[in-house]
Amino acid sequence: MQTITLSLSVNGQILDRQIQARTSLADFLREDLLLTGTNLGCEHGVCGACTLQIEGTPARSCITLAASCESKKVRTIEDFQNDDTMSALREAFSKEHALQCGYCTPGMLMTAHDIVNRIALADEARVRKELAGNLCRCTGYSGIVKAILSVLHARRQA
Ligand code: FES
Ligand code: FES
Repeated sequence: MQTITLSLSVNGQILDRQIQARTSLADFLREDLLLTGTNLGCEHGVCGACTLQIEGTPARSCITLAASCESKKVRTIEDFQNDDTMSALREAFSKEHALQCGYCTPGMLMTAHDIVNRIALADEARVRKELAGNLCRCTGYSGIVKAILSVLHARRQA
């Protein structure tokens, strides 16, 4: 197997690592960097559990080659500990019972963060549309949608 050198920023840290050329970004983060907050579900780009940010945009790390992130900025859920939007979303998810097993939650939060920051006027239909790429097998989505709408609403009142 071909080995390559990868240089990129992960959660604000510049890294240089030797990796197998075909390593997915999710496997690189979870296995090489032990950043296990990014979950893996389907591993073929359907469920959204592995959602993170590349250059500020949500992306599915299971179908992204780590090698394609050369010189890019990657942020995982671990990097949002002190982020105001993410703090508000975590609180709202808890209040609205927006999780049960929690497996989808890191990916949901990453997508929700993008919705709140990008679409200030999103209504329920728009939130549901934006969430279409994140699957949850437990909650029936209604708590998740309510949580995101409550953060959007609070932002509009501020
Ligand atoms: S694990 Fe990546 S989309 Fe399902
Ligand atoms: S809370 Fe279990 S999959 Fe969403």
